[in-house]
Amino acid sequence: MAEVSKLIFFLFISIFFFYFSIYFGAPTRTSSSYITWKDILVEDDDVKHSLTWRDGGNVIVVSKDGRGDSRTVQGAVDLIPHSNTRRIKIFILPGVYREKVLVPRYKPRVSFIAANPNSSTVISWNSKASDPSSNGLGGVVGTYDSASVAVESDYFTASHITFENTSPEAPPGSVGLQAVALRVTGDKAVFYRCRILGSQDTLFDHIGRHLFYQCYIRGNIDFIFGSARSLYKECTIHSTAKTIGAIAASQRNSSRDIGGFIFSHCRVKGSGKVYLGRAWGRFSTVIFGFCEIDCVIIPEGWNDWGDPTRRETTLFAEYSCTGGGADQSRRVPWMKTFTHRQITPFLSRRYIDNDRNHRWLRI
Ligand SMILES: *[C@@H]1O[C@H](CO)[C@@H](O)[C@H](O)[C@H]1NC(C)=O
Ligand SMILES: *[C@@H]1O[C@H](CO)[C@@H](O)[C@H](O)[C@H]1NC(C)=O
Repeated sequence: MAEVSKLIFFLFISIFFFYFSIYFGAPTRTSSSYITWKDILVEDDDVKHSLTWRDGGNVIVVSKDGRGDSRTVQGAVDLIPHSNTRRIKIFILPGVYREKVLVPRYKPRVSFIAANPNSSTVISWNSKASDPSSNGLGGVVGTYDSASVAVESDYFTASHITFENTSPEAPPGSVGLQAVALRVTGDKAVFYRCRILGSQDTLFDHIGRHLFYQCYIRGNIDFIFGSARSLYKECTIHSTAKTIGAIAASQRNSSRDIGGFIFSHCRVKGSGKVYLGRAWGRFSTVIFGFCEIDCVIIPEGWNDWGDPTRRETTLFAEYSCTGGGADQSRRVPWMKTFTHRQITPFLSRRYIDNDRNHRWLRI
């Protein structure tokens, strides 16, 4: 009898631990499949007291004077192992890093963090689309590969970094002057207090779900463009257009594509005039909500990319914006209007963090 109850007892205990390990084990396995404030910032302690990179720590220091782990940003990215599972913080000391940087697809969970919050860490290059390609096959660089910094992996973050493309300013109608400062092709990325500077096609917000929080983005023609689904929250959008230009070109081809650019509580300023958005795709989606917009907007506001059939399917809207540029009296009649209830899901962080079973955005 004692033997039987012992057996039942052990059976019970092992079933308990089996379920216990499933229940508590799962979050551990996926522990780095979200982004928190801890991933975005480096506490002094991280650098001073944690192990150095060479000793197996998770902070790589980039310093031009050779006292860090690498003199270049790409050198630091190259140190990261293939398919790494833990977060790696690349801590970049002030300076202008003149280089082209690629964070490849197979290096997820990378953070670029400037050592000084005063925007004095700059990654800068000057490729433009019409530059001859260096791949030995002839042809040109193209817009895609013109990026000074290209992020192709998931769970990337950057804070207090300036991304820049210093190629000459593109006048309206010019050809081959597209010059990307930052391309984001990975899913689930956060940019916090970054500056993204260029002229035509400054920010290639290519694919994935992204948060740009309190960033500064400057350009003149389609300077935020791509197929990503992004929330720009409390950003400054600065137009440098001398005559005509456009802020956002969303390439959403079909109603099944997830893409769309949402500007929430942003400040739009600079010179112009510029369109708020252009319908690069048939289902192009661009919304400005609660923004303060200076008199830099073309009164019609929105552009159908020369294809009137797109007017039906695009989703261009403004909600509760203020300032001289928010005057809707001469806007195109085909822009959409929303009630407060309809607009709310678009302006919330849930727009980009839309899997209710797994929230990746934990900031
Ligand atoms: C940032 O800039 C301000 C004003 O120029 C300066 O007072 C402050 O010390 C700077 N902060 C750092 C960390 O360098
Ligand atoms: C949208 O269509 C264009 C033109 O066919 C294509 O090049 C692009 O890759 C498509 N974008 C997406 C996100 O499917």
